[in-house]
Amino acid sequence: MVLFYLFQYAKVVEHIKTLLIVMICLKPFIVMIVEKMFSYYGGKSNQTEWIAKYIPYDIKTYAEPFSGAFWVYFKAGFNSSLLYLDLDTIVYNDFSKNNVNLFRCIKKYKEFYDYIKDIPTPSDDLYHQFRDEFYYNGEKTDLNAFQLTAESDFSRGLKYIYLVTHTFSGAALSSSRNVPKGSGPRLVAFKRKLIKPLWIDKIKKITNIENLDYKDCILKYDSKDSFFYTDPPYFKGADYSVNTFDNIGEHYRLSQLLKSIKGRFILSYYNFKELEEWFPKNKYIWRSKIYKKSSGSRKGAKVNEGEELLIMNYEPPIFIN
Ligand SMILES: C[S@@+](CC[C@H](N)C(=O)[O-])C[C@H]1O[C@@H](n2cnc3c(N)ncnc32)[C@H](O)[C@@H]1O
Repeated sequence: MVLFYLFQYAKVVEHIKTLLIVMICLKPFIVMIVEKMFSYYGGKSNQTEWIAKYIPYDIKTYAEPFSGAFWVYFKAGFNSSLLYLDLDTIVYNDFSKNNVNLFRCIKKYKEFYDYIKDIPTPSDDLYHQFRDEFYYNGEKTDLNAFQLTAESDFSRGLKYIYLVTHTFSGAALSSSRNVPKGSGPRLVAFKRKLIKPLWIDKIKKITNIENLDYKDCILKYDSKDSFFYTDPPYFKGADYSVNTFDNIGEHYRLSQLLKSIKGRFILSYYNFKELEEWFPKNKYIWRSKIYKKSSGSRKGAKVNEGEELLIMNYEPPIFIN
């Protein structure tokens, strides 16, 4: 009898080992399939996998007060099947109305796919037409100065994603004179995600799409079961259409708010001297990672090393660095 159970136990262990080996072998392919929804300035393409491992499992609400292209959300769910199985609320929030409108279009993935599927790419003419419409004939205007309605505006969503996928790093929408090489596949890749079950599943799970200032978002969704992945514009150096973070005061206010919440947070930053004073290392968990960053996504661009810093108010579930 004992021998029988030992034999069964050995068989189960063997199955688990095989499963683990298969998962490890498949991992590079899974990571390849699941890159990002679209390129975005300040998006965390090199670091998402690392960051996602620190997200706690026992939460009910997942929110990103500075969602941008929502890279960490997409990556985290794909890489860890346990995560997000049991979430009540998943919040996309950004102060940029164009980002919010785009995510409202993405939420209607089927109709939006039909709306954009035949759009030619890459096309210099179309790029210039959309850029001029966006900037009112080339003048750089306030990209956030329009009325955002609860309904998704497909026409604006199309122009925005066209410009984002046809400029370097998805950022300075007015900067490129011509469509850079390699732009076409980026829009094609975006379109495909709207019809892929793996992506549709993640899109469907987003419960709230908000256009709030980060403070209002954090206060609205805070609870002891909430988790905030917080990725503000970096201190001195972000070119977003909306950015209230070009002074140290806003970074300080964010730090004070995070320190007062009931929920858990990860704060993503590049290091600067005030951080250690605001988040003492004996009270908060700090992790950092050196990664390669290019000064633009241009081919042949200089590749530098950067340090990504994570500050947490909880012990991470698994020790990884
Ligand atoms: C570093 S990016 C976030 C990148 C994001 N983690 C991603 O994966 O794409 C910062 C974002 O904060 C937004 N933002 C700037 N000021 C804000 C504010 N006061 N409240 C909310 N969002 C803000 C910007 O529009 C930008 O999308």
